[in-house]
Amino acid sequence: MTTPHTPLTQDALKTLVGRAALHYVEDGSIVGVGTGSTVNQFIDALAGLKERIRGAVSSSEASTQRLRALGIPVLEAGEVRSLPVYIDGADEIDERGYMVKGGGAALTREKIVAALAERFVCIADESKLVKALGAFPLPVEVIPMAAAQITRRFGQLGGAAQLRLKDGQPLVTDNGQHILDVTGLVITDPLAFESEVNQWPGVVTVGVFAHQKASVCLLGTAQGVRTLAF
Ligand code: 5RP
Repeated sequence: MTTPHTPLTQDALKTLVGRAALHYVEDGSIVGVGTGSTVNQFIDALAGLKERIRGAVSSSEASTQRLRALGIPVLEAGEVRSLPVYIDGADEIDERGYMVKGGGAALTREKIVAALAERFVCIADESKLVKALGAFPLPVEVIPMAAAQITRRFGQLGGAAQLRLKDGQPLVTDNGQHILDVTGLVITDPLAFESEVNQWPGVVTVGVFAHQKASVCLLGTAQGVRTLAF
């Protein structure tokens, strides 16, 4: 008799990849830590080996709070020259390791910490793997006075940008800025797209991570953790 197969929930897949990421944490190192519900699973797992690491550099106030609550020391990004690994989730990842991020509004600090790291380990459930980036509304952190003109520029590319709200008010990021979420884009050349949008006046960070793409993705699937190397 065989036991009926119960599919893992999305939360269970996040826990699975969060734990699998521990494999990439080097003893005695400082770990770059991203933001989001998948990373929260990683942070909780990291607490189990906190005596073996020197601490973390965090990409958001939310992750910093969670790390500290679990007794993991948090260092400022300016205190380190490089990190062996940065571990973070994604809203979309394609088969080349290019990602869309920023669903949790932490994209700017995520890119800053990722840029310090030798390796970016993306942890995600299989729903995040896409053929082409752009179905998930693209987050863009902007300086508020530029939001209207940036919205018009996305319109010229066929995209519709919407100001992200929280409790009926514009969401304010950890950096004191706003987020536009852009729908209707198909991002075929992520490197060129990131370079182009990043130089529009008033754009703080575009949520395409092509220049800081993933080195490895630990993808939670019904069959277990699938490792994609890029
Ligand atoms: C936050 C992010 C997150 O990594 C992304 O939104 C994925 O989050 P989750 O793990 O909750 O699905 O970019 O700014």
